[in-house]
Parts: sequence; structure tokens; C-alpha cells
Amino acid sequence: MNTPFLENEHFYMRELRESDLDGHWYAWFNDSLVTQFQNKKIFPNTREKQRAYFDSIQNSDTDVVLAIIDKHTEQHFGNVGLHRIDWVHRSAELGIVIGEMDFWGKGYGKEAWRLITEYGFHVLNLHRIWAIVMSGNEASAKCAEAAGFRREGHFREMFYKNGTYLDAFYYNMLKSDLDR
Ligand SMILES: CC(C)(COP(=O)(O)OP(=O)(O)OC[C@H]1O[C@@H](n2cnc3c(N)ncnc32)[C@H](O)[C@@H]1OP(=O)(O)O)[C@@H](O)C(=O)NCCC(=O)NCCS
Repeated sequence: MNTPFLENEHFYMRELRESDLDGHWYAWFNDSLVTQFQNKKIFPNTREKQRAYFDSIQNSDTDVVLAIIDKHTEQHFGNVGLHRIDWVHRSAELGIVIGEMDFWGKGYGKEAWRLITEYGFHVLNLHRIWAIVMSGNEASAKCAEAAGFRREGHFREMFYKNGTYLDAFYYNMLKSDLDR
């Protein structure tokens, strides 16, 4: 039974399930295009490593991760989450991956970013949500800005990717920005 936790017209977001380990999920992080602007594909990913991550998320009180599922095909095509939740300062880091590239460029990343942000502010009562976006990740920067995040910081040569250092940008949004 698929009860949406969050949803829009095209997809819904639900809890991660053990059965998700049987699909492509772990392989997303071995794909050079998917991980082009992520701190991933440093070591090969395996189902076993993905299972360990799955287990850690089930037991975590500082992460909320949702699977993103296509309403028409029931395909698990991405994940979005809030990580490093700090219950004192009420902040969290937003992370997103659309691992099935057929689902890129349809506006789903933007929508998922907005939905998890609203959930973070309205349900978890967070004060601040932040994200790190690697230089060149224009789609991610647009998702952040469309949701109301502002680029507040620039980290020079933060990530070593494919033989070169990439800068990164710090995006930040306060709950009060929702009203602006
Ligand atoms: C980044 C990511 C979440 C974007 O999701 P998406 O569904 O492909 O993006 P959307 O279709 O919602 O597009 C959002 C905006 O980016 C633009 N865009 C999409 N792909 C783009 C590209 N390759 N280059 C430049 N702009 C792009 C869209 O036109 C849209 O712009 P608009 O707001 O002006 O309409 C997705 O590509 C992804 O998961 N990539 C791999 C993992 C990753 O990089 N995660 C983010 C780490 S911070």
C-alpha cells in the first residue's frame, strides 16, 4: 500500500523501504552523470553499502529521507531529504538526488525541493534549511532559488572531482523567508 507522505500531481514521496534496495537506488551513486556534482562516486557503491545507509536512516533522529515515486509507473526515481537536523538551533541540510535521468528536466527536482522545504518549516518547525551546491550545478542552483533559498557563501576549491577542484556555494533559507 502506497500512502503518500508528500505529493504533487506527478509524483509522491514516501518513506524509504527495504524493497527499494532491490532497484537501481545503489547504482545511482556509481553513475558519473548522476554524481557529476555530488560528493559521491569516490568508492564503488554496493547494495550492501546502500543497506547500511538504509539502516542508519531508519535509526536516525537527525535525518528524514523520502523516496520519490512516479505516480504513473510507481518507479522509484529519486530521494530527497533533510540531514544533520539540529533540534536546538532548528536547522537542517537539504539533499536531493534524481537518480533516474529520464526524470531530469521535468520540473520534479524543483517541486521536490519546494515540498521538503515546506515540510521542514511547517511540520518539523525548522528555523533554517541550507544546502551546498557545487559550481556548475545550474539545475540545483535553480531548484534552490525557486524554493526561496539565497546564495550566501562561496567556498573556493571545496571538492576534488575528476582531477580538478570545484568551488561550491552555500544556499540558505530561513522560515521567515517564506513570507517574503
Ligand atoms: C539537480 C537535480 C535535483 C535537478 O532536478 P531536475 O528535476 O532535473 O530539475 P528541474 O527539471 O526541476 O529543473 C530546475 C531548473 O533547472 C533547469 N535545468 C534543468 N537541468 C538543467 C541543466 N542541465 N542545466 C541548466 N539548467 C537546468 C530547469 O530548466 C529549471 O529551470 P527553471 O526554474 O528556470 O525552469 C537533478 O538533476 C539531480 O538529482 N541531479 C543529480 C544529483 C545532484 O546533483 N543533486 C543535487 C546536489 S545539491
